Amino acid sequence: MNNLHVAIIMDGNGRWANARGLPRVAGHRTGADAVRRTVEAAPGLGVSVLTLYAFSADNWRRPAREVSALMKLLSHYLIRETDRCIENGVRLQAIGRRDRLPAALVSLLEDAERRTALGSKLHLRLAIDYSSRQAILDAVRRDRAVTEEAFSKSLGPDVDLLIRTSGEQRLSDFLLWECAYAEMVFTRRMWPDFSEDDLSAAIEEYHRRDRRFGAVAAEKTLRTA
Ligand code: FPP
Repeated sequence: MNNLHVAIIMDGNGRWANARGLPRVAGHRTGADAVRRTVEAAPGLGVSVLTLYAFSADNWRRPAREVSALMKLLSHYLIRETDRCIENGVRLQAIGRRDRLPAALVSLLEDAERRTALGSKLHLRLAIDYSSRQAILDAVRRDRAVTEEAFSKSLGPDVDLLIRTSGEQRLSDFLLWECAYAEMVFTRRMWPDFSEDDLSAAIEEYHRRDRRFGAVAAEKTLRTA
């Protein structure tokens, strides 16, 4: 029941804001509160690895003002939350490219990664300037004679449960390899409204699923024997 890797595509910030007559950035800001709630709730729900899709490689195509606001929000999150991560045993790590990020954000990320390195309650991975296709290509280029096991290790842990908010049902270049056998839960909830109850409901749904990894369930084998 424990040690789950949950990955979340946090979607719907813009629509949440539009519905309230607010600028899109207000949706992202409230979305950052939902990030904090989710990180706090995760260890108690059996999650040991949490990967959040904060900024995709394709998000650079958004208006410069929105991109800049998102970068600032990420920086503020790290400034506000790094100490709290240390106190709560959260190990923070960023995945994705760093060479296109503002220097100040990179230095905050490196500082947070260094200072939280010993955290053992939750491994929080923030996907920033992330593209799964790119991550796969990079892993291939790192070691051409790679085995499936070594390749998986190089990319990161397999996802058990993938959650996407806002009603969209796409992977959007997120953890394509790692989601090979992931259970997927799509909720209509907009990310800024996502709560501990929503995370808990998704995890309960995950536990109700029958994960067979291509095999047949033990009970079914007996029945057909
Ligand atoms: C998708 O909603 C959300 C994003 C592209 C950004 C996610 C960022 C946050 C939740 C806030 C900061 C993150 C951290 C880790 C502190 P959208 O803008 O695509 O929404 P829409 O589809 O309704 O337009």
